[in-house]
Amino acid sequence: MSEGDDQPPTEPLLAARGLAKAHGRTQALRGASVELHTGEILAVTGASGSGKSTLLHCLAGIVRPDAGSVTYAGLRLEELPEKRLSELRRTDFGVVFQFGQLVPELTALDNVALPLMLAGTDRAGARERAGEWLERFGVHGQGDLRPGEMSGGQAQRAALARALVTGPKVVFADEPTGALDSLAGEQVMTALAHTAREAGTAVLLITHDAQVAAYADREVQLRDGTVTSLEVSA
Ligand SMILES: Nc1ncnc2c1ncn2[C@@H]1O[C@H](COP(=O)(O)OP(=O)(O)OP(=O)(O)O)[C@@H](O)[C@H]1O
Ligand SMILES: [Mg+2]
Repeated sequence: MSEGDDQPPTEPLLAARGLAKAHGRTQALRGASVELHTGEILAVTGASGSGKSTLLHCLAGIVRPDAGSVTYAGLRLEELPEKRLSELRRTDFGVVFQFGQLVPELTALDNVALPLMLAGTDRAGARERAGEWLERFGVHGQGDLRPGEMSGGQAQRAALARALVTGPKVVFADEPTGALDSLAGEQVMTALAHTAREAGTAVLLITHDAQVAAYADREVQLRDGTVTSLEVSA
C-alpha cells in the first residue's frame, strides 16, 4: 500500500474535509474527513462518544460544523441558505436517527407516507407506497401502530422504511439495527443493502456491530473526532 496514487477514479458524491464540531466544552469532531461515493455502502465504526452521530448530522446538513466543509454533488452545504438546504435534505437524503424520531402522533404507515406527501404525492398513493416499504422491512402488520405502541425494533424498521421511501441519493443510518436481535438485524441489512444496490443509493452506516459492518464496501473508524481508514479485510 505504498502507492501514493490509489484514489478512486470518480468524484465522491459526498465529501467532508476537516470537520470540527464542539458540543459545549466537548470537542466531538476534530478535523474529520470522509468520502462517500455513489452507490457505495460505507460503515462508520468507533467507540461510544467518538463523534459518529455528530459526523452523520454534519454530513446530512442537519448540524452546521464549526469548521471544515461538506460537499454534496458539487454543492458546498455550508454555503447553502437554510431553505435550500432543507429542500435538498428532503429530496436527496434519507436519515435514520439513532433514536428513531418517528412522529409520535402518527401511525407507522403515516410516518412512512409523510415524506412522500411532503414531496407532493397524494395521501392514498403515499400510504400505498408506505405499505410496500413497511413490508420490505418486515413490519407490514404493524402499520396501524403509533411509535409508542411498537417495539424498539419495529420502530427502527419503520424509520428505515421512512428514510428510503422517497428514493434518496444518500441514506444516513445511525445504528439502524441497534435495537434488533441478530436475525432481525440480518434481515434489515439484507433489505437495506438490496435496496441500495438496486437503486444505486449511497449509504453511510454507523454501527458497532462487525456483522453489520460486513455488509459495507468499506469501513472507516472514528477515534477522538478524527477518521481513520481501515484496510478492507478480504
Ligand atoms: N447535544 C450535545 N450536547 C453536549 N454534548 C454532546 C451532544 N451531542 C454529543 N455530545 C458529546 O459529543 C461527543 C460525541 O458524541 P456523538 O453522539 O457524536 O458520539 P457517538 O460516536 O455517536 O456515540 P454513541 O456510539 O454512543 O452513539 C460525546 O462526548 C458526547 O457526549
Ligand atoms: Mg451515536
